[in-house]
Amino acid sequence: MFEIKDRDAMGRIGKLKINGHKIETPTIMPVVHPNPKKQVVPIELIKKLTDIIITNSYITYSTPKLREIAEEKGIHELVGFDKVVVTDSGSFQLSVYGDIDVEPLEIVEFQEKIGVDVGTILDIPTPPDVERERAEKELEETLRRAKASIELKKEKNFKLLLNGTIQGSTYLDLRRKSAEEMGKLDFDIYPIGAVVPLMEEYRYRDVAEIIINAKMCLPTNKPIHLFGCGHPMAFALAVALGCDLFDSAAYALYAKEGRYLTERGTLHLENLKDLDRFPCSCPVCSTYKPKEIYRMDKKQRTRLLAEHNLYVTFEEISRIKNAIKEGSLWELVEERCRCHPKLLDALRVVRKYMDFIERFDPVTKKSAFFYSGYESLFRPEVLRHKKRLSRLKFDKIYITTVSKRVEKPYSENLNLIHSDVDVLVIDDVFGLVPLYIDTFYPLAQSEVPDLFEFEKEYNKPFVKEFIEKYKDKILDITTYNYYINYYNSEANKNKINPDALRIKKMLQYQYGYDIIDDGLMKKITIKRSKTTGRIRYVMLDGKTLFSIRSYDNLLIPTEEGARLLHKKIPYPKYRVVVDREVEEFAREGKSVYAKFVVDCDEELRPYEEVLVVNEDDELLAFGTTLLNGKELMEFNYGIAVDVRKGIKKEG
Ligand code: GUN
Ligand code: ZN
Repeated sequence: MFEIKDRDAMGRIGKLKINGHKIETPTIMPVVHPNPKKQVVPIELIKKLTDIIITNSYITYSTPKLREIAEEKGIHELVGFDKVVVTDSGSFQLSVYGDIDVEPLEIVEFQEKIGVDVGTILDIPTPPDVERERAEKELEETLRRAKASIELKKEKNFKLLLNGTIQGSTYLDLRRKSAEEMGKLDFDIYPIGAVVPLMEEYRYRDVAEIIINAKMCLPTNKPIHLFGCGHPMAFALAVALGCDLFDSAAYALYAKEGRYLTERGTLHLENLKDLDRFPCSCPVCSTYKPKEIYRMDKKQRTRLLAEHNLYVTFEEISRIKNAIKEGSLWELVEERCRCHPKLLDALRVVRKYMDFIERFDPVTKKSAFFYSGYESLFRPEVLRHKKRLSRLKFDKIYITTVSKRVEKPYSENLNLIHSDVDVLVIDDVFGLVPLYIDTFYPLAQSEVPDLFEFEKEYNKPFVKEFIEKYKDKILDITTYNYYINYYNSEANKNKINPDALRIKKMLQYQYGYDIIDDGLMKKITIKRSKTTGRIRYVMLDGKTLFSIRSYDNLLIPTEEGARLLHKKIPYPKYRVVVDREVEEFAREGKSVYAKFVVDCDEELRPYEEVLVVNEDDELLAFGTTLLNGKELMEFNYGIAVDVRKGIKKEG
C-alpha cells in the first residue's frame, strides 16, 4: 500500500505500508550482509537509522550454514532485524559472474519460505550498450519470469510482496516496453535495474533518461526503487525524477577503500588526515580526528568510515524530504548537479522531458522560485506559465520591458494597468508576464539575478512566436502614446474596472475558462487587505466568491465561488468525479479518498483547486487535489482531494 503525502518536482513523500510497518519514502535501504560476521556496521546502529533494509536471498540460499538458519528461524532472525527485510534474488550475482545456480521460481519460493517481506524476481540485468538483439532477448526472458513469478505468488497465496525489475539496457524504447509490460503485472515495487555499471562510470545522463522513460510507462501508484544507487550525491536528482527507494552497499564498499562519502562527492581519508577535524558532525566525525581514524587497524577504520557514510546518506534523504515539503527540490537538485559535470549533464537532458515532468510538478509551492543558473530556465514552473499564457483571452496587447530595478510584482510598481489593454512585460525567465496576472505563483514569487546575455537569448524565440501569433492584437510602440492618453482618459476610467478585469484574467489563467462574463464584470467588487493593499476577497452581492491566498495569489473559492466555477467550466474540466458511495461524505466536507475517484479532468496538476462532483455532475464539494489527472485514476490509497467544504443537497 502506497500513498502520497507531499510532493515536489516528480518527487514525493510517500507512506508505504509493508506487513504492518509504515515506511516513509523517499528512503534508503542499507544493504546488510546475510552473514552477520561479514556485516561492516553493527545491525544495532542500522536499526536506529531505518525500519527497512535489503539483503541477499541468493547468498543465503547458496551458503549452507546461512540457509539452515534462514529456513529454520527466518530471514529476520538471521540478519537480526525485526522490521522490514527486502531481499534481492541473485540477479546481481548473475550480472557479475554470468551464471548462478538457482531456478527463477525456486528463488521466489525460497524468499517466501524464509519469511522475506519484499522479495525480488530473478531478472536479467542486461549491461549497457549491448547489441539490441541481446537486450530484447533478455528482456523477453525477464518478462516471462516476471509473469511466472506473479502467477506462482497468486497460485500459492504467498505472503511476500514482490519487486518487478525494469530492464532493457540503454535502449530507451525497451525500458518503456519493460515498464509497460511489468506495469500490467501486479508487482508491489518497481525497481529500475542494471544501472550500476552506468553509475560506476558516472553516466548519470543515461541513468536519468532510463528513469524518466521507465516512469513514463509505469503505474504512478507504486514505489520506484533505483537499484544499486547508493551515492547521496545522486539522490536529489533521482528523487526529483520520481524514485522513492534506494539501496546502499556503497556505505560499506567505499569505506573498505578509505572513501568518505559526502552529499557533494567522495573524499579520501588519505587526503583528509591532516585536517584537525572532519567536515561533518555525525557521531563518528565529532568523536574522532581524521588522523585517529587513519591510524586505526583496517577493520576498525572501515567500520567507522562506513558509519559516517551511513549517517551522511540518511542526512541527505532528510534534506531531500525537507526540500519536498518546502517546495525547493529543484533548487536542491540544481545545487547537487553542480557537484559533478556528469550530473549537470543529467540535469540538462531532463529538459527534453519537461513536458511530461510538468504534469507532476505542483502548481503552487511554499518557497519562491530561486534561479540558480541556466538550467532554471527549463523548470516546469516556467514551461507551465508559457503553456497557460494561451489560456488568457487577449484583445489588445502592449508589450514592453521594465528595468531590472523594478521589484515584482511589476503591476504594483508600475503605473501601467487600468485599461482594457493587456500589458505584457518581457521577462528573462518567464518569457512574457501579463501585468494583470503577475501576482500569481511563481511570477511574483521568484528571485532572479542579472542574467548574462546568452541566458537572455533563451526566451527570445518564445517571445517572437507569441508576437507572431498575436500580431493582429499587438499595439506597436507608436501607439503607446495613444495608449497612455487613452489610459488617462475619462472614457477609460469609466469603462474599465481594473480590479474586476484583474480577477477575470486571473481566473482565466487559473482555470482556462472565462468565469467572469460581462454581466458579472459590472457586479463584482473587491476587498483589499488593510496592511498590504492587495486584493483579498472577490465579492458578489455582498457574498464572498473567492479569497486570494497571500503566499501564491491563487484564487480560493468559497461555496458561492465553487458554484460559479461549476456553472462556467464545462464537464469534466477541473472536476474529480467520485463514486455514489462517498457522495454523502463529500457533501459533509470529508476528504475524498483516491479509491473512490471514478473519473477526472486528466489535465489536472497537483495542488489545483478542483470541484468534486458525482457522475451526474452534481456539485458535492470543492478542495485541493493532491494528485494529478493520471494519479487520480491510478491510486487506490490515500487522500485524493483535500476538501475545503461540502455542499448540501438542494431542496
Ligand atoms: N542490483 C543492482 N542492479 C540490479 C538489477 O538490475 N536487478 C536486481 N535484481 N538487483 C540489482
Ligand atoms: Zn561524519
